[in-house]
Amino acid sequence: MALRIGIIGCGAIGNSIAKAIGAGRGGDAKIVAVFDGDRERAGELAKKSDSKIAQNIDELVRESDLVLECASQGAVREYGPKIAGKKDFVVMSVGALLDGALMGELVSKAKKGGKKIFVPSGAVCGLDGLKGAGIGKVESVRLTTTKPPKSLGLEVMGRTVVFVGTPEEAVKKFPANINVSAAVRLTAGGAPVKVEIVADPDAELNMHEVRAKGEFGELLCKTENLPSKDNPKTSALAAMSAVATIRRITETLIIGT
Ligand SMILES: NC(=O)c1ccc[n+]([C@@H]2O[C@H](COP(=O)([O-])OP(=O)(O)OC[C@H]3O[C@@H](n4cnc5c(N)ncnc54)[C@H](O)[C@@H]3O)[C@@H](O)[C@H]2O)c1
Repeated sequence: MALRIGIIGCGAIGNSIAKAIGAGRGGDAKIVAVFDGDRERAGELAKKSDSKIAQNIDELVRESDLVLECASQGAVREYGPKIAGKKDFVVMSVGALLDGALMGELVSKAKKGGKKIFVPSGAVCGLDGLKGAGIGKVESVRLTTTKPPKSLGLEVMGRTVVFVGTPEEAVKKFPANINVSAAVRLTAGGAPVKVEIVADPDAELNMHEVRAKGEFGELLCKTENLPSKDNPKTSALAAMSAVATIRRITETLIIGT
């Protein structure tokens, strides 16, 4: 039987994910219900994905085998505790999970209910290697993210380093922009992680560079993200990685974990 998916967030990523799942790219899965604070957006996506609009989160959870959040950090805080432990839960607004108390609550509920929480790698590559590296000692991890200033809500004259700090600080300062730093932090475990954000008026793409050093050797991984064809406002890879996570859940042969 197809995996029944409920989507929270009917924006750029939600639409791209629903389209790919509808085309069979998530394996044996289908969208059964959608939820959004913006009823019009929920209505449009429900129509496109031939699913229903859930009136509230409880209904979405009831209808689904797996709930996929692609809304906002606030949505993870507000609805996460109602989902974890009841159904498998995929989180795209990863920044929310750097709140230790919330993360602890969600994981404990998921464990108790025998369910899982999945965090797709999102718009950044290299997390597979970093995950393996973390089995040994990792001395340092550095993420450099370069974006056009507009996408950071900034105006700068030339290439400018606008932030240096920890992932925890980065997701607070740029809550809608720097989920990748949270994904890197969660993958790196206890290793020290430094984040640098660069606003570059000449940058046409969002670029992420992950560097790590440890017992395994050294890793350098650069991602140059093209915008989604469906939704230029989001990186194509972010939604693709969520669909790949769904495919991994529906598949029997699991490669590259
Ligand atoms: N993990 C990654 O690599 C990655 C990459 C890009 C975006 N993201 C995150 O994914 C999320 C969605 O991104 P997007 O580009 O689709 O955004 P978007 O603004 O296009 O769409 C978000 C939708 O969610 C809805 N929403 C937000 N908060 C809500 C709430 N509390 N209750 C109900 N509905 C709510 C909004 O009304 C909107 O329709 C964002 O948090 C973004 O930061 C993650």
